[in-house]
Amino acid sequence: MDSVDNQFQDKMDAPAAYAQDGAAPRTPLEIRIMAILAAARFYGYELDRADMRIPPNEVPPPAAYVRWLQNAGLWARASQLKWRQLVAMSDARPVVLLLDDGSAALMVRTDPARNVVWLKDPAAAFETDPVPVDELRLAQAWSGLVLLLRPERGLAPDDQPFSVQWIVGLVLREKKLLRDILVGSVTLAILTIFPPLIIMTVVDRVVTHHSWSTLTLVALLLGVASLYEAIIGWCRRQQILFVATRLDAKLGLYIFRRLLGLPIDFFERKPAGEIMHALHETGKIKQFLTGRMLATALDFITLVVIIPVLLILNPILTALIMACALCILGIIVAFLGPYRRLYAKYIQAEIAKGVTMVETIHGIRTVKSLAMEPVQKDEWDKRTAAAGEANLAAQKLANWPATLVQPFESIMTRFVILIGAAMILQDGTGSVGGLFAFMMLSGRVAQPLVSLSKLIEDAEEQRTAVAYASSILNSRPESTNPSAGVRPRFEGAVSFNKVEFTYPGSKTKALDGVTFDIAPGTMLGLVGRSGSGKSTITRLLQGINREYEGFVKIDGMDLREINLAHLRRSFGVVLQDNFLFRGTIRENILAGRPGLTLTDAVRAARLAGAEEFIERMPLGYETFVEEGSPNLSGGQRQRLAIARALIHDPRILILDEATSALDPESEALVNANIKRIAHGRTMVIVSHRLSSIMDCHQIMVMDRGRVIDMGTHDQLVERCAIYRHLWSQQNRHIDAAAERAALIQGS
Ligand SMILES: Nc1ncnc2c1ncn2[C@@H]1O[C@H](COP(=O)(O)OP(=O)(O)OP(=O)(O)O)[C@@H](O)[C@H]1O
Ligand SMILES: [Mg+2]
Repeated sequence: MDSVDNQFQDKMDAPAAYAQDGAAPRTPLEIRIMAILAAARFYGYELDRADMRIPPNEVPPPAAYVRWLQNAGLWARASQLKWRQLVAMSDARPVVLLLDDGSAALMVRTDPARNVVWLKDPAAAFETDPVPVDELRLAQAWSGLVLLLRPERGLAPDDQPFSVQWIVGLVLREKKLLRDILVGSVTLAILTIFPPLIIMTVVDRVVTHHSWSTLTLVALLLGVASLYEAIIGWCRRQQILFVATRLDAKLGLYIFRRLLGLPIDFFERKPAGEIMHALHETGKIKQFLTGRMLATALDFITLVVIIPVLLILNPILTALIMACALCILGIIVAFLGPYRRLYAKYIQAEIAKGVTMVETIHGIRTVKSLAMEPVQKDEWDKRTAAAGEANLAAQKLANWPATLVQPFESIMTRFVILIGAAMILQDGTGSVGGLFAFMMLSGRVAQPLVSLSKLIEDAEEQRTAVAYASSILNSRPESTNPSAGVRPRFEGAVSFNKVEFTYPGSKTKALDGVTFDIAPGTMLGLVGRSGSGKSTITRLLQGINREYEGFVKIDGMDLREINLAHLRRSFGVVLQDNFLFRGTIRENILAGRPGLTLTDAVRAARLAGAEEFIERMPLGYETFVEEGSPNLSGGQRQRLAIARALIHDPRILILDEATSALDPESEALVNANIKRIAHGRTMVIVSHRLSSIMDCHQIMVMDRGRVIDMGTHDQLVERCAIYRHLWSQQNRHIDAAAERAALIQGS
């Protein structure tokens, strides 16, 4: 036990941030969060409070903690435990007891012999020993809510690659529901045997012996069986519905999560239409699994029940039926390969169609303004025709097995009666009633087999769909362990050391031996021709592209060591074209950051020079911004984006052509504010207009991925030819005026 205790001592070592003894008393919520942090740390997971996405002044429900832990890659569950169960937990791992006052205690071990548990107070100094607590004492503060956690064994379901096995696993995990469905189906299968057998009795006994009493009994039985069948059928459909809905939700969550985990350059390379189509395909998979697949599986249960009965009724006819079944199966399998090829072609054609559609919708402004409608329409027509042809070819082929199967089906359902009758006539084997029963049951055998043929065809479609969706969803995510990496408080020193970078698929280097250093609080201006690598520098800084050579450091710390989410949260970024989400102006400025209020939004808006136009709007900060923000001008949108980037007071602010779209007046407004904005933070300003960066502490001139020179405006005008050229280009009007003045004076 001692060693276990030591283990806790080691692993839960308090980081500096928590060892602040004598500080203000902590709130219960803080204590609770500390307990969870400590428990996660025991397993080597460093949680980020910012990931919890709960405003600090709200009390999060236990589910919020569970989600928080799960997102960091832990297995977690909130449970209601009895004292008996708690004491019985023998393994040495921390359990978070959620106390009634909103705080928490860490249970580090149990002692069933003495009937006590050992608790640690997460807020106390971390060296303190755990104290034993008995049932009575604990009951005063705790009513059974615990948070259980442990590292996820193997891969979490959410991290497993997307594949057919994964989906099947997802379905099979619904054990309880599946079991109910199975029981219902077996019952139904048994019930289906009854009516034919009863008819057999009616024909053989009632009709032959004129027995009224038997008929009454049989009628009664039939009635009860029908009623029962209806009820069970209802239950089964209900259960299937549940499975389908749950599966749908799980699949949706999984897909969206994986999609968000993909790096930006993935989205830059793949057309949106292709991604959308792949995701759409996953919907089909779900439908297939819970629709046809489940139905066929259940039909097979019927088969298993019916075939023995058929064998008893008439072995020869049963053999005949089985032979037909085998023929049907053979036909289906024979057509599988060719169908697979044609279907793959059809899917390709559909994807091409989807790409055109999405491209047109996204670029509709350009399409309209260039009057490109006929061009797009032609392309759409062509692609639609191609998809139609491909589909027709595949379905034409599929028509063959469906036709060839037909005769065998007829034999199974209709000819058996003739053959059976012939057998009775010839040597008197079997009864007339038995023949009726046989015929009714054998119909039930044909049905699952025919649906199997359709199933195989469908399965082919699903395989293609899964392969396609997995080609997208299984791309390498941005980071394999989102909780990894350090989370320092940034000061804002940035240094690049011999950084080389080439975009995937490109031959020329976008950055070629870039080296520079800036101190915290520096305003760095980046200038250079288009394509010289300015934006690439800002992308590397944000960790968007990570496959570079050399070193990028923030505050002397290698960028690759820093937690990615933390890194991006510490930046403020404004681009030339910024996306505003559907929502009010206030919501757009706050951008879902927890714990911020309208006051913060107003402060940020003022700093960004956006206050003036927001207040002129009829609803002010509550004005609704539509998708694509048509109700805002380009300059207004830009200033909102700047406010949004400033809302969390980032240490490092990147403005990439942020003021290019502004009219001179708004630009002057923002530029005038930039000194104020820059106060206390590092700024990286990319701009083609030298007037926006003239006042920067340092200006870096770039050309073809190299740093040409770095210095202040005055230094650069003096010694850097490229900069001087840019400067004179942009100030030609001034030079011309000066020349004219000189001429006039001279004459
Ligand atoms: N996503 C990308 N994929 C491939 N190559 C890219 C990508 N983005 C930029 N490049 C290439 O990298 C080089 C540097 O581009 P970068 O965007 O950094 O230039 P820039 O200086 O910001 O130009 P601009 O002033 O036009 O914004 C260019 O040659 C460009 O073609
Ligand atoms: Mg750029």
